[in-house]
Amino acid sequence: MPAFGLGTWRMGEHPDQFQREADVIRAALDMGVTLIDTAEMYGEGGAEEVIGEAIRGRRDGLFLASKFYPHNASRSGVIEACERSLRRLDCDSIDLYLLHWPGSVPLPQTFEALHELQAQGKIRDFGVSNFNLSELEKIPEADQSRLGCNQVFYNLAHREVEWEVSAWCRERGIPVMAYSPLDQASSLLRSPAIAAIADRHSASPAQIALAWLLHQPGTVVIPKSARPARIQENLDAAAIELGSEDLTALDNAFPAPQQAVRLGMR
Ligand SMILES: NC(=O)c1ccc[n+]([C@@H]2O[C@H](COP(=O)([O-])OP(=O)(O)OC[C@H]3O[C@@H](n4cnc5c(N)ncnc54)[C@H](OP(=O)(O)O)[C@@H]3O)[C@@H](O)[C@H]2O)c1
Repeated sequence: MPAFGLGTWRMGEHPDQFQREADVIRAALDMGVTLIDTAEMYGEGGAEEVIGEAIRGRRDGLFLASKFYPHNASRSGVIEACERSLRRLDCDSIDLYLLHWPGSVPLPQTFEALHELQAQGKIRDFGVSNFNLSELEKIPEADQSRLGCNQVFYNLAHREVEWEVSAWCRERGIPVMAYSPLDQASSLLRSPAIAAIADRHSASPAQIALAWLLHQPGTVVIPKSARPARIQENLDAAAIELGSEDLTALDNAFPAPQQAVRLGMR
């Protein structure tokens, strides 16, 4: 799985923006972005349709991640949801198919459906999103180490996942996919501590926030932008190497949790 991807939440919500958004995704592909993250929830299928339009004729070499609602997590529900997503994405398979957040359907049912989809070649890999430690431990044991990722709310201002969850994933070789890596362009990007490091690297605050996540072992970032110039800026963060002085300053400004905290969610 590539370490950098494009998020698509808030895309596909307005039909008059459809072509513009497809153009943005095509521009991202032209820049070398190969991972696209989406969900049946985004624009109630609209984001998947935009992606389907943007990737027509260039599916090869792309890594598509999508997610299904917990209310579709029954054995037949997952299979039907996946088939709908594939139709909207206009392709034969999804590379990584995730349960969007924990729900009430017993997990063995969900994983049985995921195995079936995998055996049929409709998905290459499967995983979860927004799972804390106790929820990860409820996953059928044989599937725990087979997870393609746990996609979680993770950025400098929200390091809750570092309390037990990321270590659990790392021990099993499961990537942590950091969503809202820019904290949705909140005050994080106006932090003086980040600004000072950005100055040292002739970089932007967003790039420092992404470079810090990419420095964390086994971590993938999926920032969303609807502006090609920002997508290029975000992609270029992968080339920034933070030094020990930078990392210490960031740890001081945004400390890791020192006691049990609940995994955040957006
Ligand atoms: N699994 C889950 O439950 C879950 C939850 C939330 C998100 N996600 C996934 O993660 C992706 C990313 O998270 P997100 O969209 O919540 O938030 P995000 O990527 O942290 O932030 C997106 C916001 O940052 C702005 N932005 C992007 N690049 C920037 C830059 N270089 N400088 C300044 N501002 C910049 C964007 O505005 P412009 O578009 O105007 O550039 C947008 O307002 C989502 O799109 C979705 O695919 C998953």
